[in-house]
Parts: sequence; structure tokens; C-alpha cells
Amino acid sequence: MPGPHERIIFALDVDSSTRAFEWASLLQGEVGMLKVGLELFVGEGPSVVHGLRQRGARVFLDLKLHDIPNTVRQSAQQAARLGAELLTVHASGGAAMVAAAVEGATQGAREVRLPAPVVLAVTILTSISDAELDAVGMRGPCEDAVLRLGKLAVNAGAQGLVCSPREVKQLRSEIGKAPLLVVPGIRPAASDTHDQARAETPAKAIADGASLLVIGRPIREAANPVARTREISAEIERALRG
Ligand code: C5P
Repeated sequence: MPGPHERIIFALDVDSSTRAFEWASLLQGEVGMLKVGLELFVGEGPSVVHGLRQRGARVFLDLKLHDIPNTVRQSAQQAARLGAELLTVHASGGAAMVAAAVEGATQGAREVRLPAPVVLAVTILTSISDAELDAVGMRGPCEDAVLRLGKLAVNAGAQGLVCSPREVKQLRSEIGKAPLLVVPGIRPAASDTHDQARAETPAKAIADGASLLVIGRPIREAANPVARTREISAEIERALRG
């Protein structure tokens, strides 16, 4: 089992490689992984992933792939060649697409002799309401769709899911112990909730069955980001001891 600080994924929601590398240096050894999202990847490209890896960071490539299976297979293959260790796809792309992502990730990793990235599926974005789900023609309510898509993705070979703190407990009970549950929307007690309407504390998310926590602003906006990260690690450690 990873140490408490390795359960923290820092969200690199910044717009340049320069800033990303500054955070990588500051948080080296303090968090388990750094998350590169669409903004940074579209702006800076694969070189940001190479640069982070050269600085010793482990990278979560959060691109939420959603396309025909062949395209997703080849994109996952490229992500694996870059050395990403976690990769996201949309479960709503269907079982064949999720399976293709896993195949591509495995193939790409073999080519560069690295461990295959773990493919995580995103179910229903937390920005989607029941009314919006209905408007796009998907069967709701959202909480049912999350379970349906989560099970579909895991059965198709996804090794984990991204889910909100509210969904962790039920998903964990439905999909068992093995799949990773990676959870954003985390706010340490007594911190600003920002736009995360349904935030939870690190302790609660871990107690409910979260594997890894994605944390951005609570660390980025802290007066002392390293001290804040260590407080979060201590909170995770207490929750793990139960
Ligand atoms: O700053 P904050 O801790 O809210 O950052 C959370 C990270 O997780 C951001 O990169 C955000 O895009 C991502 N995320 C989220 N809520 C979701 C899915 C992803 O906040 N439901």
C-alpha cells in the first residue's frame, strides 16, 4: 500500500510548462503524482510530460478521451509511450472504446518497456444535472447513470474510475476492492470550498474507500503549499489508521 502522501495527486491547473515545473520541484517527494489536464496539454504538448518525468514526477494524463475505439487505442498508446501512469477516458464512449484504451495503453508501454498506464473511466461529469442528462438522451438520474457506467467500464477492463466524494461509498460497495477510485472535489477541513459544491474532507473520502485524492486549489492557494500538503498527508494517515 502506498504511503499517505502518495495518495495525493496534485492538479497542475496552470497554463505553462514553466509553472508546472516550478510546482514539480516544490512538491517533489510531497505528493504521489501530478495531474496534467487538457489546458496544460493542449497548450504545451507532450514536452510538458517529458519535462515532468525528467524532474522525477509521476504523471496522470487527464485527457478524458472519447472517440471511436481505434482512435482511442492509438491515443492511449501514445500516452503510454510518454510515460503517463494514469490516463482517463469517458465511460460513455462504450465498452469497446474502454477496452481499446486498455489495449493501446498496454501496447504503448510494452514498446518503451514501462509499466502500462492505469486506465480510469470518467462516468458522468459532476457539472451535468439530471435535466441535462435527459436532454442529451441518457437515462438518469445521474446517480444511477454513474453506477451503470462505472460497472460498464470496469467490466470492459478499466482499472479504476474517477468519481466525486459523494459517489465513492456506493461505487466501492458495487465494484469491490480492486478498482482504483480517484476522487477530486477534496477540501481539507476549514478551507475554502471554491466552486466545489459537494466537497468532502480527505479523511471522509479515504474512509469511504477512495484510493487516490486529486487536490488542486487547497494546495495551490495555500500560503505555504508544502506545509498544507503535509497537513493533508497527516489527515490521510489518521484516516487510514481508522
Ligand atoms: O482545485 P481543485 O482541488 O478543485 O481541483 C480539482 C481538480 O480535479 C481540477 O483539475 C478539476 O478539473 C478536477 N475535477 C474536479 N471535479 C470533477 C472532476 C475533475 O474538480 N468532478
